[in-house]
Amino acid sequence: MAMAASPRILSTVLVLFVSSLIWGSCEAAAAGDGRRRLAMLPPRGWNSYDSFSWTIDEAAFLHNAQIMADKLLPHGYQYAVIDFLWYRKNVNGAGEDSYGFDSVDQWGRPFPDPERFPSSAGGEGFKHVADKVHAMGLKFGIHLMNGISTQAVNASTPILDVDTGKAYVEDGRQWTASDIGLTHRTCAWMSNGFMSVNTDAGAGRAFLRSLYQQYADWGVDFVKVDCIFGTDYSPKEIMAVSETLKELERPVILSISPGTEVTPALAENITQHVDMFRITGDDWDSWKDVRPHFDVARSFADANKIGATGLQGRSWPDLDMLPFGRLTDAGVNQGPHRSTNLTFDEQLTQMLLWSMAKSPLMFGGDLRHLNDGTFNLITHPTLLKINHHTKNNMEFGYIQSERTSESDEQSGRSDLTNNGGPVLGLATCNDKSTGGWHSSSKDHICRGFGIQNDNASFCMSKAKLLPTSDGVTISSEEDQAKFHLVGIDTNDGCLDASVSPMFSTCEQHSKQVWELTENGQLKSSYSGLCATLKSSKEGESETTGARAWTATGDKGEIYLAFFNLDTASRKIAVRVPDLEKVAGRKLARKHLCTCTEVWSGKSRSLMKGDISAVVSSHGSILFEIQC
Ligand SMILES: *[C@@H]1O[C@H](CO)[C@@H](O)[C@H](O)[C@H]1NC(C)=O
Ligand SMILES: *[C@@H]1O[C@H](CO)[C@@H](O)[C@H](O)[C@H]1NC(C)=O
Ligand SMILES: *[C@@H]1O[C@H](CO)[C@@H](O)[C@H](O)[C@H]1NC(C)=O
Ligand SMILES: *[C@@H]1O[C@H](CO)[C@@H](O)[C@H](O)[C@H]1NC(C)=O
Repeated sequence: MAMAASPRILSTVLVLFVSSLIWGSCEAAAAGDGRRRLAMLPPRGWNSYDSFSWTIDEAAFLHNAQIMADKLLPHGYQYAVIDFLWYRKNVNGAGEDSYGFDSVDQWGRPFPDPERFPSSAGGEGFKHVADKVHAMGLKFGIHLMNGISTQAVNASTPILDVDTGKAYVEDGRQWTASDIGLTHRTCAWMSNGFMSVNTDAGAGRAFLRSLYQQYADWGVDFVKVDCIFGTDYSPKEIMAVSETLKELERPVILSISPGTEVTPALAENITQHVDMFRITGDDWDSWKDVRPHFDVARSFADANKIGATGLQGRSWPDLDMLPFGRLTDAGVNQGPHRSTNLTFDEQLTQMLLWSMAKSPLMFGGDLRHLNDGTFNLITHPTLLKINHHTKNNMEFGYIQSERTSESDEQSGRSDLTNNGGPVLGLATCNDKSTGGWHSSSKDHICRGFGIQNDNASFCMSKAKLLPTSDGVTISSEEDQAKFHLVGIDTNDGCLDASVSPMFSTCEQHSKQVWELTENGQLKSSYSGLCATLKSSKEGESETTGARAWTATGDKGEIYLAFFNLDTASRKIAVRVPDLEKVAGRKLARKHLCTCTEVWSGKSRSLMKGDISAVVSSHGSILFEIQC
């Protein structure tokens, strides 16, 4: 049971000192460069996506904002954000990747759909909504797609020069949307809607100015720019947007998305140009979505990216919204219609990780249905204090853990991490572990698994792509080679490569499109990554087991969080002398120290030399240690 300290743990101690240095210097930098100190703490707020997909309207938004102002603003939740497609008409035929339903003005800029946002009629945009949100004491945010609308490009709309109020002219000619839209760079997951803009052209930059100046004029305080990061990584455009925002008189926070396959290396050149950046794919209310956040949060903590220098302030790795309470489903044109699938333990675990990792906290549930349990969870005073007022936040590797019960997992569930079964993962396609897939009879795609590559094999069934109106277009010859993958023996649905591979309802989305390459690789159309397969034994240390995080508070108190990612309960323990390495000082002055288990409020002494607890499957425990 006892685990020796691994090499990465030793480096953790070093990182501690480095991170405190960086912390100090970024404070100074932000103060030194003058007037703006944006996002000095991880932002908090509410975002409409998890509960409304794209179909929110003005009344529902303002109602949610009012509840946020009444109940959550006292706890620091400040940003009320309208998520994507606020310019799209909510009519038959319109959907996530439909074409031709957007309101676009004479300068090629989207404006709110007046049916859904009546106060925008007559060219008012979001001005009145923003005024009302501000009157509630809140800040107002909107989601934006990177680049320019395909409708504007097809209509060759002129570009507004904000300096002259007239069409933009350069080299003696009037430039239009079709001069700056990069038709070969449409958004991978909304190819009919938006495309990148040529930011090398003066007209491209003028277009961005015309967009963001207008948002500032409306009273927007926060923009979430999508299809610009992660698998849609467009560093030039991130920097162009960032420069544009810096020149505005109004301070506007920049949040970028998506976070699919984001690593510290990918984020390296970007974090100083933004205020928050997603580091995972969309997080829905499923344990399989929550679990990968542990690894990526650790890597960003190790890379000192938590609260590093950002655009006009600091920047924060963003673990995505909190999908608790009343929700909708991805890709449906329907408002909130179901409750979160996460158990209470899983919600608490998610809230605790988000707090320990200092992620922005954006609640996703419909606030009109906010119950006391959810309210207490998202306003938990200790968690909110940790989220805003701790330092040295990182995973703590010196832990020991063992199972205290058999796995609770029922067999036959469509969970690829079942003990004994193989574990699917994604890796870059030049990784050797991605080969070995082959077609077998009956349209199966199979791969052997097991350490010796014994004869056990894992198969999925090839299925024709769904008839597509949204998402994926199958038109050309080569697309015939693309398919869905369906689990065998169960009604598993289609293999989905959005966050980590899993089976979910088959849909018309490129995240469920796969192809088998000549090298025996199974490649995802969505991310361009390739599928890997490990036996669960090999995968165990990554996908199950125990984790701990530590952070230090304003008054020198230490927070220690245990997380059990396993399907069975586990006893998790740390030795006090190891914890002293985090604190950088002796803790074992027993009579002076208190160790409080935060969930229960119970105190215990540190005399025994270790802190241990039995943690239920997917559960967590938090200790606050004061000496
Ligand atoms: C918009 O223009 C693109 C080419 O730029 C074309 O493929 C597409 O059919 C056009 N869409 C419509 C509805 O006109
Ligand atoms: C970051 O910038 C450096 C220096 O310009 C460049 O070599 C590197 O490729 C960039 N990284 C990414 C992920 O774009
Ligand atoms: C939530 O649970 C329902 C019912 O089991 C299921 O159909 C749905 O796919 C789940 N949603 C997510 C995001 O896991
Ligand atoms: C495993 O496969 C090899 C080669 O295909 C075959 O010779 C062997 O009999 C198989 N073993 C079992 C246990 O099926």
